[in-house]
Amino acid sequence: MSTKLQGVRGMNDLLPDEAERWEAFEEIVRDWLKSYGYRPIRSPIVEPTALFHRGVGEHTDIVEKEMYSFEDRLNGEQLTLRPEGTASCVRSVIEHNLLFQNSQRLYYSGPMFRHERPQKGRYRQFHQVGVEALGFAGPDIDAEHIVMCRRLWDDLGLEDVELQLNSLGDAAERATHRAELIAYLERHQDQLDEDGKRRLHANPLRVLDTKNPALQDIVDAAPKLLDYLGAESLKHFEAVQAMLREAAVPYRINPRLVRGLDYYNRTVFEWTTTRLGAQATFCAGGRYDSLIEQLGGRASPACGFAMGMERVMLLWQDGLEAGSLVSPDLYVVHQGERAQPFAFRAAELLRSAGFAVVFHCGGGGFKSQMKKADASGAAFAVIVGDDEAAAGMLALKPLREAGEQVSLAPEAAAEWLAERLYGDDEA
Ligand code: HAM
Repeated sequence: MSTKLQGVRGMNDLLPDEAERWEAFEEIVRDWLKSYGYRPIRSPIVEPTALFHRGVGEHTDIVEKEMYSFEDRLNGEQLTLRPEGTASCVRSVIEHNLLFQNSQRLYYSGPMFRHERPQKGRYRQFHQVGVEALGFAGPDIDAEHIVMCRRLWDDLGLEDVELQLNSLGDAAERATHRAELIAYLERHQDQLDEDGKRRLHANPLRVLDTKNPALQDIVDAAPKLLDYLGAESLKHFEAVQAMLREAAVPYRINPRLVRGLDYYNRTVFEWTTTRLGAQATFCAGGRYDSLIEQLGGRASPACGFAMGMERVMLLWQDGLEAGSLVSPDLYVVHQGERAQPFAFRAAELLRSAGFAVVFHCGGGGFKSQMKKADASGAAFAVIVGDDEAAAGMLALKPLREAGEQVSLAPEAAAEWLAERLYGDDEA
């Protein structure tokens, strides 16, 4: 007996009810991105492993332990299923010289892969909508990203969301802070946990990001990066905040917000909620002014963010009711030798007229077909028996409200239905 095949742990199927909700969400998101002038970019799901080592950082959780990496059996290339979209987007922009003349406002969406321990809101294949603005130096674009997020949450009616904000300064400021932080952590070395000890010299900022309650006192008293910012970084951070105040977007400065990827500098932010338990952050991003150069492009400032779609979908309670979305307009039932081809042609004609039409397949009597028509959610049944076929007529029966059945020729039926369904007498 063969073993039962199942999907991969942490990678989910989206069944039709849920997939329809996702499509409705994606439509809202696309309109929102267009309203801010962002354009789509699509890049492959598989990238050279080196991209993420150089882009995301050797000492991040993602690169150290979460990537799906493998060797191409045919040519020995080292490949990785993308764990995030920024590095891919930047690679593509460099490769195709998109920053040659213009700055770029871009977005992407799709699956990302991280080998994490699955739980509610955390999966091994998950989906992001990512937004990247490349070639912009000023604080205005940082503020634009935050304000556009706020608009989307408002449009979706998300509740209990908080914006956390921090600045990571520039490389020199981080280096000074890093030296002080290492000295401080070394003084407390014997109290650190295993992760903390390991990261102490490799990536001390990440020690501050620990979830271990036993380390909270040490972390709270550690030197704060915010206190090491120079005049330029402070000015940038202050300007972002001024624009947020101007736009009436509330925020909380969290000096311990460091992000899990190494490419950030200056502004970083996370949108969190109390409604998702441990997976509180549903959208995050910030500035990454060195990444383009680091990946081989001409130095160019940039910033961006990505939302976790599964997490936003969990928050979007008011999303369309399951099953309420994609009901057809019409369900065509038919019985009889002559009826079938006539009904089949009529269904095509009605689709050409703009209706969503389900054609009954699989035979059966009128009664059972009418049950299916009703269950489909269609507004009208289009009924064809041999008598109708011989007369060239369609019988139209309202399924959602009371009303007489009428018989009309196909063209006239299309007009009559357009009027009933869209209030459109021009059809
Ligand atoms: P990130 O913080 O690693 O940033 O991921 C962004 C969002 O993706 C998270 O806030 C979370 O909602 C979602 N996410 C991450 N991992 C998982 C998971 N295992 N399961 C479900 N959702 C998850 C980035 O990826 C950056 N590329 C964001 C960015 C764009 N920064 C600048 N531009």
